[in-house]
Amino acid sequence: MTPQKQIITALLKKFPYAATMTLAKRAYKDAPEAFASLESARSQVRTLRGAAGEKRRKYSPPELQREPGKAGAGGFQRIPEGWVDLPDWKAECFCGARKTLVLSDIHFPYHHKGALVAALEYGRDRGADTILLNGDIADCYAISRWEKDPRKRHFADEVRLVNNFLKTLREEFPKAEIIFKLGNHDERFENYMMLKAPELLDVPQFSFQRIMGLEDQDIQLVRDMRPIRLGKLNVIHGHEFKVMSSDPVNPARGFFMRAKVHVLGGHYHRSSQHSETDLEGKVISTWSTGCLCELHPQYRPINSWNWGFAFVDTDSKGAFNVSNLKVIDGKVY
Ligand SMILES: [Fe+2]
Repeated sequence: MTPQKQIITALLKKFPYAATMTLAKRAYKDAPEAFASLESARSQVRTLRGAAGEKRRKYSPPELQREPGKAGAGGFQRIPEGWVDLPDWKAECFCGARKTLVLSDIHFPYHHKGALVAALEYGRDRGADTILLNGDIADCYAISRWEKDPRKRHFADEVRLVNNFLKTLREEFPKAEIIFKLGNHDERFENYMMLKAPELLDVPQFSFQRIMGLEDQDIQLVRDMRPIRLGKLNVIHGHEFKVMSSDPVNPARGFFMRAKVHVLGGHYHRSSQHSETDLEGKVISTWSTGCLCELHPQYRPINSWNWGFAFVDTDSKGAFNVSNLKVIDGKVY
């Protein structure tokens, strides 16, 4: 195929309903060296789309031809396809019978060791075969766009802590499926990269999963605010519903009001539960889990947070049972 044909064919495939002269001008502007003149580009467009007369139609591939008698038309089909940022966006399903330990809001390096260890020991004792790290595992304090104290820990220290934690997790749960869902704090990493180092965004060595050590420990990353499904239970971090109050009376009810399906989430650092029965008698339940970080951070020393996590049993049909647990004085309740 000649270069001229290649250029025009690509344009016809991309803009099948554009006017002939529009396409010729675009081709001539993009590659003036390929065409003797604008008229020559126009002639090439007419030939390839089968609009240069019956005799020359044999030079036009069928897929580029316009419907006879409808030259320049196309009706509403002239409207181009819209842009899609996340073409494969959907919930990530982890189906089948499983025992899932759900930990969120650890906020390394502001983790609370006692609460975290109590949650991990509980998960091991109950035979967890799936560990869901449900967001805000890394605080990403040093790369936050919010005001920060430069005397505080460096980002390298945070990364080291997360690396070591994931390594320990893998060693202690060698056969478990481990899932890492990004929370709003974890997302700070990519936001920082977009603002400060956009040239490195496509370099695998600078990806979140590489830097935090997910790849080394065979941990699956769930990003783009995708919900996770454990059977019929939806799991979110909690920041996906942007319009919720930052300090709701009952976070679980807030999840219910927006999702209207079974949901478990973190983000609000408080354990809560809500159930409602719909008009058809179906009971819908939602839960928010507590956090595993230190309870009096500098930015909000007074709060109503509590330490907690969840354990979810699911069977092969998708039925589930949620244990929404609290850690008080080192004990799990
Ligand atoms: Fe959090």
